[in-house]
Amino acid sequence: MMRIKGVGLVKSRGYQAWLTEQRWENGARIEAVRPLFGRITAAIEEEEGPGASAIEELAGGIAAQTGIRPELTVKGGASAIVLGDAGAASAALAAAAADELGEEGYLIQSGGEGSGRYIVLKGGSGRGLLYAVYHFLRLMGTGAELAALSLRELPRNPLRMIDQWDNMDGSVERGYSGRSIFYHDNRLLLESERIRDYARLLASVGINAIAVNNVNVHRAETRLITPEYLPDVARLATVFRRYGIRLFLSVNYAAPMELDGFATADPLDEGVREWWRQRAAEVYRTIPDFGGFLVKADSENRPGPFTYGRDHADGANMLAEALAPYGGLVLWRCFVYNCHQDWRDRSTDRARAAYDHFRPLDGRFLDNVVLQIKNGPMDFQVREPVSPLFGAMERTNQMMEFQIAQEYTGQQRDVCFLVPQWKEVLNFDTHLSGEGSTVKRIAAGEVHPYKHSGLAAVSNIGNDGNWTGHHLAQANLFGFGRLAWNPELTSEEIAGEWSKLTFGCEGKAASVITRFLLDSWSIYESYTAPLGVGWMVQPHYHYAVDVDGYEYSKWGTYHFADCRGIGVDRTRSTGTGYAGQYAPAVADRYDSLDTCPDNLLLFFHHVPYTHVLKSGKTVIQHIYDSHFEGVERVEAAIRAIRQLEDDIDSARFAEMLERLGWQADNARQWRDVINTYFYRKSGIPDEKGRPIYS
Ligand code: GCU
Repeated sequence: MMRIKGVGLVKSRGYQAWLTEQRWENGARIEAVRPLFGRITAAIEEEEGPGASAIEELAGGIAAQTGIRPELTVKGGASAIVLGDAGAASAALAAAAADELGEEGYLIQSGGEGSGRYIVLKGGSGRGLLYAVYHFLRLMGTGAELAALSLRELPRNPLRMIDQWDNMDGSVERGYSGRSIFYHDNRLLLESERIRDYARLLASVGINAIAVNNVNVHRAETRLITPEYLPDVARLATVFRRYGIRLFLSVNYAAPMELDGFATADPLDEGVREWWRQRAAEVYRTIPDFGGFLVKADSENRPGPFTYGRDHADGANMLAEALAPYGGLVLWRCFVYNCHQDWRDRSTDRARAAYDHFRPLDGRFLDNVVLQIKNGPMDFQVREPVSPLFGAMERTNQMMEFQIAQEYTGQQRDVCFLVPQWKEVLNFDTHLSGEGSTVKRIAAGEVHPYKHSGLAAVSNIGNDGNWTGHHLAQANLFGFGRLAWNPELTSEEIAGEWSKLTFGCEGKAASVITRFLLDSWSIYESYTAPLGVGWMVQPHYHYAVDVDGYEYSKWGTYHFADCRGIGVDRTRSTGTGYAGQYAPAVADRYDSLDTCPDNLLLFFHHVPYTHVLKSGKTVIQHIYDSHFEGVERVEAAIRAIRQLEDDIDSARFAEMLERLGWQADNARQWRDVINTYFYRKSGIPDEKGRPIYS
């Protein structure tokens, strides 16, 4: 146990996360690498940059995993590290130096024989070198063969970003892992070793940008861009810079009014524009490599350009113009919808909102604006279709927003590994620029010539000893970074890698946990809201079941269940027309009951309970079956994890089992409430006569 400076926390099992300190058990394996790992020769460009972190991480990782303390030679030069015989590596190094790796790319190559063996890690810059080191440590930690390595990696997405929803009072919006690691009592926690360790975790999976405060910018956070806090923000930026991560701030659109008594925040008002120019100048004087602003405007009661009769291009461009001289970006969120809807009105459809607001503005945004779009049209539900806005704006930079925090997917009490969900989204073919216009290609800037694009996700960490509350929720943070780097990785690869790094590659824990992770989204879906309908959760909290919790409210999130049927008609012919926001091929698929996939049926259609699914079951029988099975699958997973008592340290084992117990209780409650509710509505009994509470 170790005290962490500044915040009085105790490092517990799980704190290292996937940066494994697990010692190799096989002594012969350690001896075999001793000549290689014992001597490290490094060339780096700057003493304080990511290259220096690369050396530190490599030496530390080797010492932790093998006990070998490498003899280090460090000199100035172009971002390379040789393990083993540097002389023998010279030809490989020269060839590597000629490779166009960009800033973030890297090579890993092994060669030589006997005492002349070597491994070369070569980065396009210090950042590339840091990524090479983390990749190499992953290979070590997963028991990979190190003798014949020949790897060349470039990230697929330019922006690979994490959004913290941390508030300066120390709370975290939708945080399920304790308090903020960044703030306490309206102060920045700069002495915290945790922030540095967080930067290490993020860099180790290739994250290169972070927004450090909540998109809902309250009073104190509004002042982050003023001299009161900027010096502290600059110190934070320094911590992240060492790991190649650029810092962004969420800003309050009405800041000129709140901070300086302006009567307006109108984006076309010259005084307001000048105010933002001055702010940007000051921010860049303090933090020359500052990333830019993340903005939630006209969304859920936050201020924005609509108040002044302006549109979102006017609003975003005002900020973009202020940041442009310094290369800063405006990440403008598209989560804009009417949150004061009348539930009686069935013609307004929240799902349509982002497309309806933004698509007509294509071509009007400056080229340092990036529209940040949530993966679905609603709000991070267990299942929803892909936002039709992706790829629908050829002349406007776009990026994806996922949510790693499990707001609607079990809140880190229930296990829900989200990589399979994200992959489904990324692999979705929008058909907007012909077949193959997948979301992953759009986000990577491969379909339209976007100047900036990529993936962002809302973080799931806090000051809990293991960062994420549930030990298994770490896999989502890891998985997001790995996918953002390379969306072609499979869910199996990512879950397998994480499980081995976290629980060791020598026992049976990794394979059992990998299997559970891979099933967990489908399990979670099966005992919660059925067939894509969503939202049957307790209002505001979004965890426990409450079928009608949002049914008669202002949020635009309804299921319309009555005694005859359920679902939202979003077809072009009889519904809200939402389906028509997709390319014709996709719209046709969703519009027709014959081709709409079962798992999105109730998102697009209102059907009778007796409607027969492609699976051959009626809707009502599917509801009963999936909810009974969901609980059985949770119970089976718990039995499998219980078998791991000898493979996992007792603290983590007990902590996981405790949460799995909560998950089982939650699943049972969902099962019984959902089944009872629909039995009462429909009057149709379960074919199998299982207990339902009439
Ligand atoms: C959800 C979430 C809010 C959050 C919002 C957003 O609605 O519940 O807490 O502020 O998304 O993404 O802005």
